[in-house]
Amino acid sequence: MESIKTENRDGILVITIDRPKLLNALNAETIGEIAEAFHAARFDETVKAVILTGAGEKAFVAGADINELAQATPMSGKATAEKGQRTFRAIERFPKPVIAAINGFALGGGCELALACHIRIASEKAQLGLPEVTLGIIPGYGGTQRMARLLGKGRALELILTGDRIGAAEAERIGLVNKVVPADQLMPTCEELARKIMSRGPLAVTAAIEAVMSGSEMPFEEGQVLEATLFGLLCATDDTKEGMKAFVEKRAAEFKGQ
Ligand code: COA
Repeated sequence: MESIKTENRDGILVITIDRPKLLNALNAETIGEIAEAFHAARFDETVKAVILTGAGEKAFVAGADINELAQATPMSGKATAEKGQRTFRAIERFPKPVIAAINGFALGGGCELALACHIRIASEKAQLGLPEVTLGIIPGYGGTQRMARLLGKGRALELILTGDRIGAAEAERIGLVNKVVPADQLMPTCEELARKIMSRGPLAVTAAIEAVMSGSEMPFEEGQVLEATLFGLLCATDDTKEGMKAFVEKRAAEFKGQ
């Protein structure tokens, strides 16, 4: 891998976008490597959670690589957007928790990448935004859709139409990030959160991600059918029996993911 680094920290796969000289801008190669890393992690039983972050002090990801975008034709531009959309959709649908550790600029494709993660934690230094209209384009990696679903159309349109960057505190206020922490606490906070989720029933965690991420895209009644089906499936697992037994016996559950 040329553009990303991966490290398995005792079950947490830390994926670091590693092009700090270009503020970790996403070119085609980087998107391809992110897709590959998630594909491998999906089937790697030693990976229980993922944290995504950016190399260096300054940026999470400062967007799609503008040098590359400047060469795009209508057809290649469409293909680029589709590849990014597929990759980010795979992150959103990833069966294990994915946390964005937003350590600096999360702009354009970087903001869209964070939006595709299940939980977003930001450093006080983070700045977020979708500045694509300032370049004469629009977000192309699902940002128009995810931002509107997360924040509502009014706030999403304000950010998308102005292209303005907002600071971490404002991002927290409007619900774009879950929490803001001092820069030196960013990775410890994300790891602590990941470990807390990892201590819960892993099959239940996977089912909850599917119920929220897929179910919320369905009509309400169909989402409820999905929820009930997943609920029923979990009732057949050893983990569910262990969880209930541990409660009755007043001890911590020992989940095996079965
Ligand atoms: N694509 C390609 N290169 C990028 C980039 C991007 N999205 N964002 C930053 N870079 C490069 C800069 O061109 C610069 O390269 P250079 O040193 O060879 O000149 C380097 O990263 C450092 O960026 P610089 O602009 O000098 O840093 P800054 O602190 O002055 O500004 C930003 C930081 C993030 C505000 C500014 O880089 C910026 O606006 N980037 C583009 C953000 C954007 O529009 N993203 C959406 C793309 S669709």
